[in-house]
Amino acid sequence: MDPTFLVFIFTAIVWIAAADLSDAFVSVACESKHVGQLGQKTLLKCVVETSKVVVDPKIDMFSWTKDEKKLLVYQSGKITKQEPGFRLADPSWNEKNMDVSLVIDNTSLADAGTFTCEVITDSGDGKAVTNLQVTARYNKPIIHSIPEKFTGVSDSVLICDAYGGYPEGQIRWFDESNAEWTKSSHMTVHRTPNGLVHLSSELSLLRGSIFSSYTCVVFNASGDKDDETVFEVDPIQKGVAGDRETDTGTNIVAPVVVIGSLIIGLLMIMVLVRCRKRYQRNSPKAVPVCYSDIERGDKHEIDEELPATL
Ligand SMILES: *[C@@H]1O[C@H](CO)[C@@H](O)[C@H](O)[C@H]1NC(C)=O
Ligand SMILES: *[C@@H]1O[C@H](CO)[C@@H](O)[C@H](O)[C@H]1NC(C)=O
Repeated sequence: MDPTFLVFIFTAIVWIAAADLSDAFVSVACESKHVGQLGQKTLLKCVVETSKVVVDPKIDMFSWTKDEKKLLVYQSGKITKQEPGFRLADPSWNEKNMDVSLVIDNTSLADAGTFTCEVITDSGDGKAVTNLQVTARYNKPIIHSIPEKFTGVSDSVLICDAYGGYPEGQIRWFDESNAEWTKSSHMTVHRTPNGLVHLSSELSLLRGSIFSSYTCVVFNASGDKDDETVFEVDPIQKGVAGDRETDTGTNIVAPVVVIGSLIIGLLMIMVLVRCRKRYQRNSPKAVPVCYSDIERGDKHEIDEELPATL
């Protein structure tokens, strides 16, 4: 056999073994899944790990890539490519820093997907992928009724709309005793132009429904409650509740009338008693001028007389 060929084989084996060995010393560790919130910062946590035999490792090159597009590249001692909105988590990063985590400043739905982080160090190479899922919280739902004046007298429909969430969630209905009415409802799912989800649910109510409130609750895709809105059946519209309101009015008026009469009565008694005393004390000819007397405020006399009178 050709000795040159043997040497070539041998060299190749050594080279591959060395490469393998060196790769075994270095790896990139990422959390396999990240969940980001729409419009918020998202941190894609990735660190370079080296085995104990590697002393003082140095990163020669690294890159963050998504869908074949380079988002951030470091090589030859500097960052050579950086897409707007993406940056290193550590602003004072240097080649000795093994934390190569990426920050997305304003997470959008388009950021969802697989990110690849590749690292070349002076002691070996490593590569890892992480998946980003983007979620958005549903806004407080909005309820309206058909007909608009909800009387409970005729059949009607409550419509609950929840916007701004992602991915698809669920709307559920409850009455004031927390009993669930979702089975009597029908939900539709729409995509709004910005890619977010609009959930709309219709709850049919038969005439004579007796509940005084209905709650529409929006849940996110993992079944956690995002928000809720309570629809109060207008008490004026409902016979029973309306009567109760009139009662409250009477209840306030009655004590006012009673107390008012008492006060006026007391005043009249005081005036009369005083007039009579003065009349008795003065000469029989004198005309009692009670009101002006009281106004002049013969205080001593009143103070003395009051306890005696009462
Ligand atoms: C994030 O991006 C959205 C859509 O591009 C934009 O409307 C919003 O103002 C941005 N927010 C911040 C804090 O930059
Ligand atoms: C649902 O909400 C919970 C609590 O707010 C949150 O931890 C979770 O990530 C959300 N899931 C989705 C798919 O939005």
